[in-house]
Amino acid sequence: MADYEENKQKNSFTLFSNETGKSYDLPVIKGTEGPDVLDIRKLYEETGMFTYDPGFTSTASCDSSITFIDGNKGVLRHRGYDIHELATNSEFLEVCYLLLHGDLPSPEDKNKFKEVIRNHTMLHEQLVYLYRGFRRDAHPMAIMVGVVGALSAFYHDSTDFSDIKQRMIACHRLIAKIPTIGAMAYKYSIGQPFVYPRNDLSYTENFLYMTFSVPTREFKISKKIVKAMDRFFILHADHEQNASTSTVRLAGSSGANPFACIAAGIASLWGPAHGGANEAVIKMLEEIGDVKNIPEFINKAKNKKDPFRLMGFGHRVYKNYDPRAIVMKESAHEVLEELNKLDDPLLKIAIELEKIALKDEFFIEKKLFPNVDFYSGIILKALGFPTSMFTVLFAIGRTVGWISQWKEMIEDPINKIGRPRQLYLGQKTRQFQSESTREKKSIFKWLWK
Ligand code: SDX
Repeated sequence: MADYEENKQKNSFTLFSNETGKSYDLPVIKGTEGPDVLDIRKLYEETGMFTYDPGFTSTASCDSSITFIDGNKGVLRHRGYDIHELATNSEFLEVCYLLLHGDLPSPEDKNKFKEVIRNHTMLHEQLVYLYRGFRRDAHPMAIMVGVVGALSAFYHDSTDFSDIKQRMIACHRLIAKIPTIGAMAYKYSIGQPFVYPRNDLSYTENFLYMTFSVPTREFKISKKIVKAMDRFFILHADHEQNASTSTVRLAGSSGANPFACIAAGIASLWGPAHGGANEAVIKMLEEIGDVKNIPEFINKAKNKKDPFRLMGFGHRVYKNYDPRAIVMKESAHEVLEELNKLDDPLLKIAIELEKIALKDEFFIEKKLFPNVDFYSGIILKALGFPTSMFTVLFAIGRTVGWISQWKEMIEDPINKIGRPRQLYLGQKTRQFQSESTREKKSIFKWLWK
């Protein structure tokens, strides 16, 4: 957290307690863009009270200069560059440099960065034995959590993160190795041999090579498909303080090593309300099965008694169209056209579902629009990935965002351990009961069946 003196605004908010008659001034801090914040860091000390915000709907957990989102306008920028421009004009490794270092690289720095990443793509050979410890039908995300966490056991030469050089080696290793780890998780799940990375291929082509090549034939893939995959990674690179990024920051705030922190981020991303949604969208489209069944599912999504939600719709921040979904939709058409799959039934259902939902009063009133996950699954399925790999691909793209946010937090001079408080609603103090005085009947009969 920067020292806010220069950002502190003249105006402040005054809290007044009817009970004590006291008032408390809360300074207002202005950001470069987006909502100002109320500085409540002294609130508990001055009032003896906490704020209460489950899910952090109105809470800024940190300050950051990496990503800006305007949810009402559907704006997403990385270091000031609009996501549509980056997805159209940049390449994923260049966006990695931008997120890590704050600016687009010079041609020389870009080549150097690519060279550094290329030289870290291999995994320690011992890790192959870790893969072999999993069942073949293990979910690839379970393997990702395990293998990325296990990297901590291999890199004792980069554990002093107060040293910028060691910090950067850890960042480069994670960006470089995550595609190799993801490709190996896929190969392991289908019983094919692991494929080593190649230094003569670009980052994304190398990932597709490690994933889809087999020793028995020459590997060929169209430039359009490589570009679509690279664009997919760009669209997933970072997204402000989402659940998995906040998990990485909280884990890192205790000084845990970045490999363990990224493993924690992968675990959080796996949930269907977060990165697991792309897998859930395809399952939902397959369950709908035909455009004629769409109204039934729309009604289920609107029924408060039904836990069903329209996967790929809605977002905590975007109350407008997710700008990534717009690019993803364009990309879906390009990929399906390239692969002669424009008659993909799932695409037809998705387009019709979007059309109906966006006209429906419920979705309009609750500002539920397609998010990044709505179209991404269609692209990934067309590329030949099983649905179980979809969130792995999200994690491969997001690793640079997680590690950039971790680095930003570590480099913050006022970096503190994250330790939220609570509203306690449990029992007041009571005496211990000896066994003979307790209720005779079990209240957990259902548990012991
Ligand atoms: C990602 O945070 C990020 O930045 C995440 C992400 C990233 O890049 O890191 O963008 C990636 O996680 C995208 C979101 C993927 N998840 C899904 O597509 C799952 C379906 N979406 C919902 O689960 C939901 O919209 C969330 C979890 C995404 C957002 O949840 P919120 O902001 O907590 O919204 P909410 O649950 O409070 O919903 C507000 C209202 C509720 O109704 P009320 O209680 O006010 O009556 O809208 C309803 C919800 O019931 N609602 C939906 C809905 N999403 C919200 N109703 C039907 N279908 C939906 N999809």
